[in-house]
Amino acid sequence: MSTLITNVGELVTNAPDDDGPGGAGAGAFTSISAAALVMEAERVAWTGPAARAPAADQIVDARGRAVLPGFVDSHAHLVFAGERGEEFAARMAGAPYRAGGIASTVAATRKATDPELRAGLRRLVAEMLRQGTTTFECKSGYGLTVADEARSVSLASEVTDEVTFLGAHIVPPEFDGDTVGYVDLVCGPMLEACAPHSRWVDVFCERGAFGADEATAVLRAGQARGLAPRVHANQLGPGPGVQVAVQAGAASADHCTHLTSGDVDALASSPTVATLLPGVEFSTRQLYPDARRLLAAGATVALATDCNPGSCFTSSMSLCVALAVREMRMTTREAVWSATAGGARALRRTDVGHLAVGARADLAMLDAPSHSYLAYRPGVPLVVAVWRNGELAWGSPG
Ligand code: NIG
Ligand code: FE
Repeated sequence: MSTLITNVGELVTNAPDDDGPGGAGAGAFTSISAAALVMEAERVAWTGPAARAPAADQIVDARGRAVLPGFVDSHAHLVFAGERGEEFAARMAGAPYRAGGIASTVAATRKATDPELRAGLRRLVAEMLRQGTTTFECKSGYGLTVADEARSVSLASEVTDEVTFLGAHIVPPEFDGDTVGYVDLVCGPMLEACAPHSRWVDVFCERGAFGADEATAVLRAGQARGLAPRVHANQLGPGPGVQVAVQAGAASADHCTHLTSGDVDALASSPTVATLLPGVEFSTRQLYPDARRLLAAGATVALATDCNPGSCFTSSMSLCVALAVREMRMTTREAVWSATAGGARALRRTDVGHLAVGARADLAMLDAPSHSYLAYRPGVPLVVAVWRNGELAWGSPG
């Protein structure tokens, strides 16, 4: 069964062959206007000018609207119970964001039943799909006991292949004053229980969470169990997170809100992706990092939501694109590339984030003629249809 989508006003392809000014292998936004795309089974089979489109079993008329690769949200915390709306309201009234708020979600998550956690998780996954996200990462980190972390990664593995073990999110209250004891638990029995369901290991390397040596120990233990590292780095202040990530060969250093020039250089001269999470700066009222600084140095930049009940409760990649353009000085093209192909790089995926022939046919159609409308019309639900693996997964292109 093949499907032709024709009369596409702008088809964003991010074709990996067309490396642009971003530098060798950095990848760049590419698009075709007055375009068409053919999907065959779950793959992209053809892209090009609509005038030269081949025949297909089924035809969808895009009527001039834009089609882009489904968003790749490479950073999300979706397994949790409870909410922290009061904490957000207090922040907006002047209170600072503190990592300690995580503990209240840990308490609620431990109390929740599996069906309750599964229902909350699935609701967020459906919400993401409706907004054009077709690949997402999901972390544990609100259980922080062997059993609660194991059930978190197991639930996450029901909805995505990109599962991250984040036992080292904070030191839970019962280990207060015994970080060494907790790191031993994380690197031992907790990792043992979680590794079979996980692809990634993450650590919150920050003052008030885990220091450089502890973070390195957690990443090494995860790597010894076959997990690949990623790091929550330099979110609340300057610190060793980025350097820890680069030295561990992490796929991504996430947040990057407070970077020294040494951090920027380290990211630019390594394959570690800098993942920016503009929804966090929005929701914690911090200064936004300057994406231009990273891009000018030659770093690969991804955009993700960080969807979680504390520091940023949005699942909207469109919002992240708009914020990155408005507040982080990205062009609309850079931001859309970072929210699709950049996220794929941060997850070391070559099959998603672009629409070259052979890519997974994951795409989003916008009720707009161009990708730039994602930032030009902020807050407007522009996604009208989403295909995953070549099948219409949400909405209607009619
Ligand atoms: O990525 N930084 C650590 N973890 C989350 C915050 C989680 C929370 O506040 O519940 C983050 O921002
Ligand atoms: Fe996070």
